Amino acid sequence: MSRKQDLTSPTHIDTDDAWVSVIQKMDEAYAELVHSQVEVEEKNAELEEARSFFHSIQSSMSDVLIVCDQNGVIEGVNKALEALTGRGEEELIGTRFTDLVVQKYHAKINTFMGQLRIQPVRDCEVELIGREGEVPLSMNCSPRNNHRGRLIGMVMLGRPLGELQKAYKELNAAHAELKLAQERLVQSEKMASLGRLVAGVAHELNNPISFVYGNMHALQRYTDRLCTYFDAINEGNSREQLRAMREKLRLDKAIRDLNSLVEGTMEGADRVKEIVNDLRQFSSTQESEKAQFDLSHVIKTALHWIIKESKTPIDLVDNVPDDLTAFGHSGQIHQVVVNLIQNAVDAMEGCDPKHLELSTQQHDGKVIFEVRDSGSGIPDDFLSRLFDPFFTTKPVGQGTGLGLSISYGIVSEHGGELEILNHPEGGALARLTLLAEEDLTEANHA
Ligand SMILES: Nc1ncnc2c1ncn2[C@@H]1O[C@H](COP(=O)(O)OP(=O)(O)OP(=O)(O)O)[C@@H](O)[C@H]1O
Ligand SMILES: [Mg+2]
Repeated sequence: MSRKQDLTSPTHIDTDDAWVSVIQKMDEAYAELVHSQVEVEEKNAELEEARSFFHSIQSSMSDVLIVCDQNGVIEGVNKALEALTGRGEEELIGTRFTDLVVQKYHAKINTFMGQLRIQPVRDCEVELIGREGEVPLSMNCSPRNNHRGRLIGMVMLGRPLGELQKAYKELNAAHAELKLAQERLVQSEKMASLGRLVAGVAHELNNPISFVYGNMHALQRYTDRLCTYFDAINEGNSREQLRAMREKLRLDKAIRDLNSLVEGTMEGADRVKEIVNDLRQFSSTQESEKAQFDLSHVIKTALHWIIKESKTPIDLVDNVPDDLTAFGHSGQIHQVVVNLIQNAVDAMEGCDPKHLELSTQQHDGKVIFEVRDSGSGIPDDFLSRLFDPFFTTKPVGQGTGLGLSISYGIVSEHGGELEILNHPEGGALARLTLLAEEDLTEANHA
């Protein structure tokens, strides 16, 4: 027989409450579980993101990354090392780092591993055994500590030097080529100026050569007469006959002239030698040491040749003293002076009158040489471009536009100054400042 249940009895109510609270607890626990699960998944996603972030950095690094334990056994590498050695990560991990390095660097590596505790290693050059041969690397090595600060290994970063060395080599080669080209340019400019001087030089050489030639003719004539006279002596001519012959041949005058003819010839030959020496000095590619030199002579020879070459007369005021010296390479300064005077003479082409004034000053250990011309001066727009290579206003074939640019380089290298200005009273003024003597102060020898 079934017993009817009393659903409203207190026992029944208690059981229901218990169930409800169990279910509630379960709900809460479940919600917490879901929440933790979400959190774990979020953390996982973050972790994954961080991992792929670091992985992408490691993969795109062109430098080699090696993580070792403190015995030098590899624990981690990046893609750059795999590519360089041609070995996979699994193969590399567990290998000793020294096994990847060319034998002759082992001692060096052992030293830096030993001193790592004291200080990190910077820019240590080693060679790795690469897939295609030895690869030079510049290594930086830092200690790797655990969370308690104990040394547990090291992290090495190596930059392949091959590319860098190649780039350096190319840079050096380009630099050497540029220097050679510049030297050639300087030399060809010099030769171009020399070419312009040739007419003057030819004229200059003509003078002594023509009087050497004339003297030699006279000497030849006198020699013939002397030979005739000596033959007559040998043939036993009488005293009277010899006296008559001596008068006829005008031997006394010839003998009196002999000395001056020989001296004149010697002088002419010396002059030729001087001109050739000046030319050699100007065209020389080899420079001797800087020294005290005769600036007056340099200016006067340059002026002499340029004036000789000029087709129309120039009204010249030469205030350069005879005893002016300066310090430097006389050949190079000669090149500068020739260009300044030549520029002045060129600027006066077509002007009348042509007035050229050379002057010097000396003060504060400097020698100043000025060339003033009565030419048209320099348009304001051009003033800032005068020292630019290839800037010229002269027709093709008459100027390379390198004169002032090369002169500027020479003068700067001499510790001097070069200025080109318009003179307030018209025409241009070129001012060259040089050291009067060698500067022995420390600042200039540092
Ligand atoms: N005294 C001067 N008066 C007027 N212009 C000048 C004077 N000196 C130089 N210049 C100007 O400066 C330019 C550059 O001079 P630079 O000596 O460098 O070259 P260039 O004389 O033209 O050629 P190069 O010297 O190579 O034969 C000249 O072409 C000229 O226009
Ligand atoms: Mg010039």
